Amino acid sequence: GTVVLAYSGGLDTSCILVWLKEQGYSVIAYLANIGQDEDFEAARKKAESLGATKVFIEDLRAEFVKDFIWPAVQANAVYEDRYLLGTAVARPCIARRQVEIACREGAQFVSHGATGKGNDQIRFELTCYALYPGVKIIAPWRIPEFYNRFQGRKDLMEYAQQHGIPVPVTPKAPWSMDANLMHISYESGILENPKNHAPADLYLMTKNSEDTPNAPDILEMEFKNGVPVKVTNMKDGKSKDSPMGIFSYLNEIGGMHGVGRIDIVENRFIGMKSRGIYETPGGTILLHAHLDIENFTMDKEVRRIKQGLGVRFSELVYNGIFQTGFWYSPECDFVRHCIAKSQENVEGKVQLSVFKGHVYILGRESPKSLYNEELVSMDVQGDYEPCDASGFIRINAVRLKEYHRLHGRSSTK
Ligand code: ARG
Ligand code: SIN
Repeated sequence: GTVVLAYSGGLDTSCILVWLKEQGYSVIAYLANIGQDEDFEAARKKAESLGATKVFIEDLRAEFVKDFIWPAVQANAVYEDRYLLGTAVARPCIARRQVEIACREGAQFVSHGATGKGNDQIRFELTCYALYPGVKIIAPWRIPEFYNRFQGRKDLMEYAQQHGIPVPVTPKAPWSMDANLMHISYESGILENPKNHAPADLYLMTKNSEDTPNAPDILEMEFKNGVPVKVTNMKDGKSKDSPMGIFSYLNEIGGMHGVGRIDIVENRFIGMKSRGIYETPGGTILLHAHLDIENFTMDKEVRRIKQGLGVRFSELVYNGIFQTGFWYSPECDFVRHCIAKSQENVEGKVQLSVFKGHVYILGRESPKSLYNEELVSMDVQGDYEPCDASGFIRINAVRLKEYHRLHGRSSTK
């Protein structure tokens, strides 16, 4: 049979490519460009030299931003209060094209190099099954003959040497990385001990705060439908208005000022806790800016419901139940529609400053603002009777008085 392998160019998936061939498959190598720093032409040559029948290198950056990052921005998607989901949103984007290729090339199988303990296997495979129900999945890291043979990096290196797979010349970083336009994640290796601090030279997208400029950058972010349509640097007037251009520019500014680092222990879908370090510079600026323009333009009660949906959405994304296109999981379909509806009036401009690892909101304006300067003013009465508040407060106090009556700390008892 023919298998489309999600190939990274690295040691693991190179060994998987050759091993699949050994098992009798003809292998199509597929490499998604989602903004990681990679020599794609070198990876193509490598896959060809290892015997891939075809190699597809697909530039998915623009669709990654529009179809996957933007919905996450609209939702203020954050997993367990901190993780901005940079890996989780990328997996369905990669898998979507993978099954497209499999269908087009008449391949019945797809394969990937995710381990049997993580989230990524789930995300890849749920997307594949949803979009290509008849697909057969080969996950070597879950096949005993494979994982018993390759118990460590040493076994992979040996196998590589025996099979003409170029072995990496630079020593491997003592942790595992996953990089894309949205973030870089660092896990495992010396980071597995949750007490160990990350070395300062681990971070590739963001500067240490000690090394960031001593003057802020001031940005103006313009939103429409809850997604950014333009970013302008107020210092030099430089602006970007394409999704890719905006996101890359925010990464550049955020990275330069050390914005968007976190170090967390999180709960994997598969049940274990894991330690992860993430840097999401552009995504972090966007989260702050979007939260601000959203609350400026959105009704209070709509916001409360939408916030809960955002939490649900984040869990769906994390657990691999996030797809776009015409195929959804029923609950994600529902949540996505509600969130999209909530964003119809989320538009306007936010001015912010990016400085020393922080994003400071400076001001905002919007034609759809629900803010009434006269209503809230300390200096003008507006359409409001202050004496009405007395009854409002007394009514709200009814149940508090009852609670105190029952539980005894009331002085009048
Ligand atoms: N723990 C994060 C997540 O589940 C990052 C996973 C990183 N994946 C990787 N293959 N290194 O989204
Ligand atoms: C992996 O297991 O391949 C990486 C970690 C994860 O998917 O959670």
